[in-house]
Amino acid sequence: MKKVLVALLVAFIIIQFFPIDKTNPAPTPGMDFIKIKNIPQETATIITTSCYDCHSNETKYPWYSNISPASWYMKNHIDEARKHLNFSTFAMYEPKKQAHKLDECIEMVEKKEMPLESYFVGHQGAKLTDEQRKALIDYFKKEKAETERKMAL
Ligand code: HEC
Repeated sequence: MKKVLVALLVAFIIIQFFPIDKTNPAPTPGMDFIKIKNIPQETATIITTSCYDCHSNETKYPWYSNISPASWYMKNHIDEARKHLNFSTFAMYEPKKQAHKLDECIEMVEKKEMPLESYFVGHQGAKLTDEQRKALIDYFKKEKAETERKMAL
């Protein structure tokens, strides 16, 4: 038993030598969702608080991102999240893709699949109240309709 614990401790120490890369991608001016859309301040705050650490290039890393393997888990989420939806480069998506992403946002928030539950550890404030969820969904719906309206012109 003692040997196992020592081995685990040694392994834990060794993996600390493999930190994650916390460099955020370079800014892409004029492409950020919140900056280009006319979003009500309150809704913008919800999106920044509950989505931007994963779905943007402005990730703020918490202290435990210095600890492996928690950091690896986190980094993996951030990479995946940016691949699926990156608000920082939102304007680079074709309008059709923007509408589709907004549709996915509606679905993810409605089903309470986003924000990811694991994110609430250390980010209690990111948890959405029913009211915030509704505000977010209403806004995404409005934005989606607006995007589709422009596409039809
Ligand atoms: C802790 C990180 C994290 C947070 C916070 C987070 N997401 Fe995600 N999101 C992910 C990851 C990882 C994926 C990709 C795969 C998956 O579904 O697990 C994803 C996928 C998505 C997708 C794409 C789904 C698809 O079918 O491709 C949408 C849309 C989305 N998130 C919206 C949001 C919105 C809106 C918020 C804020 C309310 C949010 N997410 C907050 C990590 C996060």
